[in-house]
Amino acid sequence: MKLNHSMRRPELSALGVALVSARGLALGAFFGFGMTLTSQAAHAQSAPAPTAAESAIAGRVLASNCANCHGMDGRSAGGMPMLAGYPRDAMVSTMQAFRSGQRPATIMHQLAKGYTDDQIALVAEHFSRLKALP
Ligand code: HEC
Repeated sequence: MKLNHSMRRPELSALGVALVSARGLALGAFFGFGMTLTSQAAHAQSAPAPTAAESAIAGRVLASNCANCHGMDGRSAGGMPMLAGYPRDAMVSTMQAFRSGQRPATIMHQLAKGYTDDQIALVAEHFSRLKALP
């Protein structure tokens, strides 16, 4: 059967219009999204308090610095202290005691100097939520 071009052209141009308007929508969505991001960034600057989810992520990232010595997820194998399930407040005070030199150590007194009070609180919160190995 021979294609009837004059019959097919309206379909094609209708398709073209549909594509153009779909692109318009996509562009609108893109710019709308951009504006949402911008207003969120402005909001973040005026109200910097992190959400619980953001704090949890920050704690996990900070805790990855401890894995080399204390094991993955604070579950150490061997003689290193276990950090998984370590009570939050105890870790905060221990880290602060390391940092001030009040608690003597071979490594932790130096390492703790690299962490602010906020970072210590985040990392302590993270480990306290992990299940200790039996
Ligand atoms: C380079 C190895 C190393 C890294 C990395 C490390 N630690 Fe330690 N950690 C130690 C050693 C060794 C001790 C024993 C005290 C000492 O001699 O420093 C210790 C002890 C501790 C203790 C005391 C445990 C107890 O009950 O006696 C805590 C709490 C602790 N570390 C938390 C952390 C946290 C949190 C991180 C990550 C931010 C971390 N450590 C990273 C080596 C390390």
